[in-house]
Amino acid sequence: MSKTILEVKQLSKHFSRNRSVLSGLQRNRRTEIIPAVDNVSFYLRENETMGLVGESGCGKTTVGRTILRLIKPTSGTVLFNDRDITHLSDQELRPLRKDMQLIFQDLDAGLNPKMRVQSILSEAVSVFERLSDAEIKVKTRMLLDQVNLKYSKLSSYPSELSGGEKRRVGIARVLAVGAKIIVADEPTSALDVSIQAQVVNLLRELQTQLGLSYLFISHDLQVVELMSHKVAVMYLGKIVEMGLTEHVSSAARHPYTYILWSSLVGKLSLEALHPLKLDRRANWGVFDFERPTRGCRFAPRCPVYERLGHPAECTDPENEPQLRDVGEGHQVACHFPLGN
Ligand SMILES: Nc1ncnc2c1ncn2[C@@H]1O[C@H](COP(=O)(O)OP(=O)(O)OP(=O)(O)O)[C@@H](O)[C@H]1O
Ligand code: SF4
Ligand SMILES: [Mg+2]
Repeated sequence: MSKTILEVKQLSKHFSRNRSVLSGLQRNRRTEIIPAVDNVSFYLRENETMGLVGESGCGKTTVGRTILRLIKPTSGTVLFNDRDITHLSDQELRPLRKDMQLIFQDLDAGLNPKMRVQSILSEAVSVFERLSDAEIKVKTRMLLDQVNLKYSKLSSYPSELSGGEKRRVGIARVLAVGAKIIVADEPTSALDVSIQAQVVNLLRELQTQLGLSYLFISHDLQVVELMSHKVAVMYLGKIVEMGLTEHVSSAARHPYTYILWSSLVGKLSLEALHPLKLDRRANWGVFDFERPTRGCRFAPRCPVYERLGHPAECTDPENEPQLRDVGEGHQVACHFPLGN
C-alpha cells in the first residue's frame, strides 16, 4: 500500500466578520465567527485522489488553502510526509512550497497577462533552483509535452490562449516546481464539457506518470467520480461522509450525500436505501451559515429528521453526530444513517 503523504487532524478555520445589527433604534456592530472549516480530519496517500464535494460556501476552498498553509488554521494539525507543518514560519515553509501546489479555479490566476507562455514557464522552472538557459529550455519543452501543448504556444500571451490551453499552462506551472500534492480547486468548472474530459484525462495520466496526490475540489459529481479514489462530502464546514468513491456515490449513508448524488438522474434506488422514502425534491430552505443550529447542522433541511418526527437526538447540542465507521473505511456522521 502506498505511503500516506498528507494527514489532516481535526483542522478548523474560523473567520470573523463584522456586521452591523439593528437593535431597537440603535445600530450596533457585532463580530460573528464563521466556522468555515470545523474539525476536519482525513489523509491522502501517494498516487491517490480524494474528491471534496459540497455546495457553495461549505468550506472546500478553505480546506484546500489551509492545508497548503496559504492561510493559517485556527486549530488542528497538518502533517506532510509525517512532518508537522501547522506552525512553520513562511521561511520554514518555503522549501516545502514546491511540493504542495494549488491549481486555481480561475483560469487566468497565476498567468501574468504581460508575459508569454515561455516566460511564465521559465520563471516557474527556475523559482526553486538555479538553471542555465539551456536547462530551462529543455525543461519548458518537457512540460509542454507533459500537458500536450504545442511548442508554438510558447510565444503566445495568455489572452491568445483558449480556456483549455490556459488550464494546461496552469497545470504545467505546478508541475514545473515539482509538486507532489496538488489541490485542484474546481479545475474544470470554467471549461466546455469536451475540454473538461481532456483535462480530467490529463490529470489522471499525470498522476500515473508522476505519482501525484490530488485533493480534487468540484461541484461536478460526475467529474469527481471519474477522478477520485475516495470522496469526502462537506456540509457547513464539516465532513459528513467519507469513503471509497463507489461506496459514497452508490451507497450513500448520509441523507445529504444521498440527495446530492440523487440529482444525477436515476442513480439510486430509494427503496433499497431507506424504508422511509426520501423525497429528492425535499424543501432545502435557505442555505445560511448564520442559521442557529444545535446538534446536527443538517437537521433544518434533513428529510429523515422530518419523516422520523424530529427525534431529539438530532438537535441535542451535546450530541452532534460524529464520523463513525460503517464498514470498509466508509464513515458517516448521522444518528440515523440510510441503509440501516
Ligand atoms: N477570507 C474570508 N473571510 C471571511 N469569510 C470567509 C473568507 N473566506 C471564506 N469565507 C467564508 O467561509 C465559508 C466557506 O468558504 P469557501 O470559499 O471555503 O467555500 P467553498 O465550499 O469553496 O464554496 P464555493 O463552492 O462557492 O467555492 C463561506 O461562508 C465564506 O463566505
Ligand atoms: S443526524 Fe438526524 S438530522 Fe442529522 S442527517 Fe442524520 S437524520 Fe438528519
Ligand atoms: Mg471554493
